[in-house]
Amino acid sequence: MPSTPSVLVTRRLPSAVLARLEAACAMDLHTEPIAITRESLLTRVAGKDALVCLLTEPIDAAVLDAAGPQLKIVANVAVGYNNIDLAACRARNVVVTNTPDVLTNACADFTWALILGLTRRLGEGERELRAGKWKGWALDHMLGMELRGKQLGLVGMGRIARAVADKAAAFGMSVAYTDQVVSDVPGATSMPLDRLLATSDVVSLHVNLTPATTHLIDQKALTKMRRTAYLINTSRGPVVDEAALAWGLRERLIAGAALDVYEKEPVVHADLLGLENVMLIPHLASATTETRTAMADLAVSNVLAVLDGRPPLTPVA
Ligand code: GLV
Repeated sequence: MPSTPSVLVTRRLPSAVLARLEAACAMDLHTEPIAITRESLLTRVAGKDALVCLLTEPIDAAVLDAAGPQLKIVANVAVGYNNIDLAACRARNVVVTNTPDVLTNACADFTWALILGLTRRLGEGERELRAGKWKGWALDHMLGMELRGKQLGLVGMGRIARAVADKAAAFGMSVAYTDQVVSDVPGATSMPLDRLLATSDVVSLHVNLTPATTHLIDQKALTKMRRTAYLINTSRGPVVDEAALAWGLRERLIAGAALDVYEKEPVVHADLLGLENVMLIPHLASATTETRTAMADLAVSNVLAVLDGRPPLTPVA
C-alpha cells in the first residue's frame, strides 16, 4: 500500500466500516445527507488514490481526469454500475467494483413485498384510510388478485431474479423467465419476452441498464401484457418508459405497477403521481441495516485490497 493513500467517500457509511478505511487511508468524507454535487466531486476527487461512490454519482471521463493518474479504484456501493463509464475506467487502468451477492436476499424479499403490496392494494388502502375515506368493511371493497396459480414472469435471470424465483413456490406461482444467457433454471420456463409479457400475471424486471434494455418496457410492450397483469420494477428506472407506463395505467392496459426506481431519480414522472394503481417507492430494495452495512463493507474491502496491490473481491466484469 502506498504510504497513507487517500480516498474520497461520497456518502456517510456505517461508522465501523469507515473506521476500517480510516485505519489505512487519509479519508475525505462527504458528510451531508444529500448527494455530493458534481462541482464538489470534481474538486475533491483530485489527487485521490481511491473513490468510494454511490449510484447517485455519474463517474465519467471528466471525474477520472479530475482525479488524476494515481486513481486506482472506483468502488461503487451498489450492485448496478450504470453510473460508471467502464470504458473510461478501463482506458485509465482504474479498477471498478460493485457489491453483488450481499444484497440479493434483501432485494428478492423486497420484490415480493412489492408483488404482495401491489396485488393486494396496500398503498391504495392505506391512502384511503389516512384520508378518512374508509366507509368500513364491505365484501367487494378494494379487491386484489390472488397469487396462487398465477405466472410470475421474470425479465432477466441474474442473482436477484433467481432469489425471487426461489420464493415463488411459497406463493403457489409458476415462474417464466426470459434470458439469452442462462438456459436452464430448475422449475422455471424460459420463453421469449413477447410470450412472457403476454402470458404472465406479474412481470418483474431484473435486467442491468444498457442501451438494449433502455425503455424495454415501452408502449408496445405494455400493449402485449394482460389487462389483469401487474408490472414490478426494482432494476433501473430507464428500463421502463415512465410516460408510456402512465398512459398504460390510465388506460387500464395493465392492472397496476410498483416502481422502486425512476428515470430521473429523485424526480418521478408527474403523470404517475396522480394515479391510484401504481405503488411508488423511493429506491429501497436493498435498504436493510444488515445489507447496506454489508454493501459498504464490501466496497471498502475492495478499496483496501486494490490499494494493497491485491485483486479486488468483486470486480465488475
Ligand atoms: C441498487 O439499486 C443497487 O444497484 O445496488
